Amino acid sequence: MRACYRYWLTFYFHPHRNAFRAYVDWFFPTVSAWLQRDEEKAATWPARTFRRQRFFDPSEFGWIGSEKDKRVQLRRAIQSIQEKTRVMVVTGAGISAESGLPTFRGKEGYWRKWNPRRLATLEAFQRTPEIVWQFYYERRQQIRQSEPNAAHVAIVQLALNCAEFLLVTQNVDDLHDRAEYQGQRLSNGQIIHIHGKIFVSRCTNPNCDFKRNDRNAGDVEAELPRCPRCNWNLRPGVVWFDEDNDHNDEERIEKFLTKPCDVVLVIGTTATFDYIRRWVLTAAVKGAWFIEINPDKTRLSRFAHHVIHRRAARVLPQLVNEAVELGPGSFG
Ligand code: OAD
Repeated sequence: MRACYRYWLTFYFHPHRNAFRAYVDWFFPTVSAWLQRDEEKAATWPARTFRRQRFFDPSEFGWIGSEKDKRVQLRRAIQSIQEKTRVMVVTGAGISAESGLPTFRGKEGYWRKWNPRRLATLEAFQRTPEIVWQFYYERRQQIRQSEPNAAHVAIVQLALNCAEFLLVTQNVDDLHDRAEYQGQRLSNGQIIHIHGKIFVSRCTNPNCDFKRNDRNAGDVEAELPRCPRCNWNLRPGVVWFDEDNDHNDEERIEKFLTKPCDVVLVIGTTATFDYIRRWVLTAAVKGAWFIEINPDKTRLSRFAHHVIHRRAARVLPQLVNEAVELGPGSFG
């Protein structure tokens, strides 16, 4: 029994066993909870009172550990970006937080104040389209008034230095699209808005494909917008909780992931959706060096090779600058 437990512990926490950890987490949540709990105990309890600690010490793997380990890991993260060229970046609301846009589940987050079922479902839109539009009008206005921050710019810089690059953003704002580095922006092929775009208004009539971009149009808040072709209601071009993502977008991501990535960078998301976790872990399992940037722990943190618990706009420009501009020789 003890040998079996030792086997599980060692393999579960081994830094190169991401696939195994993901498998256990998904299919054996109870075992995963035990292992997590025991790891926490092992870290805080004196050795004598916790015999199983003898079998597992994460610092042996140089994974959780000293400041020196962390420096080594950061250097490895930077080097992995420098040397390799196939990069996938996944972002969430946290990357736009420093541009003044609220997140969803953070302190002042939308879903802390409002019920997403009443504002972000097709069902809610069919029942009370005015209330749903009001929510999106307000968000549109906030986004129009905000500017891309240093993290958005750093992502463009990174993309310009990669042979192949894909940004999967859950954000419906257009800050990634507007961000510029040395006069260049991300191309349409490099960015996927997996949850749609807030400035797009599209027709609800299944037989009408009318859509338009309202980025520069003033929203007339008193009225429900109507389709100029068929007079049905228009709706925001976002993906709601009771809807599926765009099939083509998902296919593009899956296709990108058929070849191994060198780095997967996850920034400012709680990774609440399983497909987000699946894409990230698929890249990691196929050999990508997995870096997460988030001030808080997330459901993905424990799988990351390197977690940087800082705000994106502070740390990302430094990471990308060092990786891209200084060159591999600068890290001894
Ligand atoms: P959340 O609000 O769930 O998570 C935001 C994450 O950003 C949190 O983990 C924060 O710790 C982190 N964060 C906050 N400030 C940060 C900063 N300055 N730098 C880096 N990270 C920071 O937002 P998402 O994960 O994007 O979907 O939410 C995913 C989806 O859930 C959204 O696309 C939306 C929402 O409901 C739909 O509406 C369908």
